[in-house]
Amino acid sequence: MTTRRVTAGERQSAGEPKAPAAAFQPHIVVFACNWCSYAGADTAGVSRIQHDPHFRMIRVMCSGRIQPGFVLRAFEKGADGVLVSGCHFGDCHYVFGNHRAVEQFEKTKNVVRLLGLEEGRLRLEWISAAEGARFAAVINEFTDQVRSLGPSPFAGPRRAA
Ligand code: FES
Repeated sequence: MTTRRVTAGERQSAGEPKAPAAAFQPHIVVFACNWCSYAGADTAGVSRIQHDPHFRMIRVMCSGRIQPGFVLRAFEKGADGVLVSGCHFGDCHYVFGNHRAVEQFEKTKNVVRLLGLEEGRLRLEWISAAEGARFAAVINEFTDQVRSLGPSPFAGPRRAA
């Protein structure tokens, strides 16, 4: 008796599920304040906490520095999601910088909405220097969320390549 390989097409017509397509890997930009969130990322690394690697981090001195233009520029340059992070309330090294970050973030959200982007592509989180595990959890959760939204409509032709 001879054996024959069953083709993928024959398996599908027999009711077997398709093999999963390669998962979309989003490009995420993380704005992190120097004193807390950036240090939190460092803590995650030093503690060898595994997390999703599909992000680029931009360090700023305080989350209050992150203006809508920074976020919009990231989307313009092809980011699929943008995470803004800073110190918890009461921990900002510039006292009220993170309160200003909230104001800036609300303005940014309005513009993002006007542009027709999903709000899920944008997030604000407070992460302290000691919260390496929290940093990893936020990155993983946000990456999954952006992955479920798919590529940004502003991502341009790099996706087609
Ligand atoms: Fe971290 Fe201001 S220094 S939010």
